[in-house]
Amino acid sequence: PEIGCLSIIVLGASGDLAKKKTFPALFHLYCQGFLPPIEVHIFGYARTKISDDELRNRIRGYLVSERSASPSKDVSKFLQLIKYVSGSYDAAEGFQMLDKEISKHETSKNSLEGSSRRLFYLALPPSVYPSVCRMIRRYCMNKSNLGRWTRIVVEKPFGRDLGSAEELSSQIGELFDEPQIYRIDHYLGKELVQNLLVLRFANRFFLPLWNRDNIDNVQIVFREDFGTEGRGGYFDEYGIIRDIIQNHLLQVLCLVAMEKPVSLKPERIRDEKVKVLQSVLPIKDEEVVLGQYEGYRDDPTVPDHSNTPTFATIILRIHNERWEGVPFILKAGKALNSRKAEIRVQFKDVPGDIFKCKKQGRNEFVIRLQPSEAMYMKLMVKQPGLEMSTVQSELDLSYRQRYQGVTIPEAYERLILDTIRGDQQHFVRRDELKHGRFSRLFYIELTTVK
Ligand code: BG6
Repeated sequence: PEIGCLSIIVLGASGDLAKKKTFPALFHLYCQGFLPPIEVHIFGYARTKISDDELRNRIRGYLVSERSASPSKDVSKFLQLIKYVSGSYDAAEGFQMLDKEISKHETSKNSLEGSSRRLFYLALPPSVYPSVCRMIRRYCMNKSNLGRWTRIVVEKPFGRDLGSAEELSSQIGELFDEPQIYRIDHYLGKELVQNLLVLRFANRFFLPLWNRDNIDNVQIVFREDFGTEGRGGYFDEYGIIRDIIQNHLLQVLCLVAMEKPVSLKPERIRDEKVKVLQSVLPIKDEEVVLGQYEGYRDDPTVPDHSNTPTFATIILRIHNERWEGVPFILKAGKALNSRKAEIRVQFKDVPGDIFKCKKQGRNEFVIRLQPSEAMYMKLMVKQPGLEMSTVQSELDLSYRQRYQGVTIPEAYERLILDTIRGDQQHFVRRDELKHGRFSRLFYIELTTVK
């Protein structure tokens, strides 16, 4: 790690995202030695007037680590790194106070000798991004002369449609340069999503098969076995398309469909993802199915007559040499009977089949992102025994069995570490955001659910 000081400021510190994801991820990084106490200071900022200890007590229950040798000791040491500042999201006072607190330790000896870094994590609704960014820009920029940086981390939803997304982008873009902005899509931090590039481009097996000549269709599926559960206020405004498909599933689609980047440089990878998005054809009405689970409107946080879809299937078609004619079926739903996220690549039938085994199923390659990370290939084999008959079987790489004793990091943990290290590969670039906002996607969502 670099020497110097690192200040991590979590704005919206008393909110849901901060409690459930941001602080626990920081805690895991801390336990693994990535946030050395000598240089790291964590600040919570929010409107609620509470003390340092009150904030610590609110997040304590969310800090669990199976990896730490003495968890309760680690929890208390970690909590001691956190200070709290309260203030509004659009007035100078709070941010001036915050800056004063951050600056205090930046002038210590250790910091003067090394670099000084400020990471602002906006665990906030996007409606306040512009004002918060303005306040940071005006009052909280890193003023040290040595190897300093200031970065901001933002979360979706980035606007409701192309227009509002672009407006938000340009408001933030006027205040911060692209290399300072980290747009999180936590699906990009999942182990098997990060594995996609290796799988596709480091294996001779897949290179010649990954195209329209061999693949019949690709399905990218997200299911959850719970509903809105009190998040109805947010969810009902956005719906399943903006909550899951337009970001998480579309990012996965890009990695499945993109061409080989010229190098592993983050910019080159993101260039290829943008090309996929630019090649997506307009979505057809008959290739969209929407639904809403029974009982959705019973959630007190959901309006009684809501038409917001909680389920959607959308077929995307990529107009290029590799994928012409291959449907990419994106499916997402809340409150279904199981929780699962997976990519299913279904191959075409064997031409001139002499075994007549079509009915038994075709070759399929499945990447299960969660739960229980796995990759498996469905293939035909001879039924073992005296008779000559065929049966479908599997070549199975289940991570839990293969990598025993290895803990797979949480998506947020990995991504926050990337923001500290300055690696933007697993973050969404401004043009990706723009080209992924197919206007049709947003229009169909406004139609009534039948
Ligand atoms: C979030 C959505 O981005 O992803 C939630 O807003 C959803 O509605 C969550 O529950 C799913 O994330 P994961 O990592 O549990 O699949």
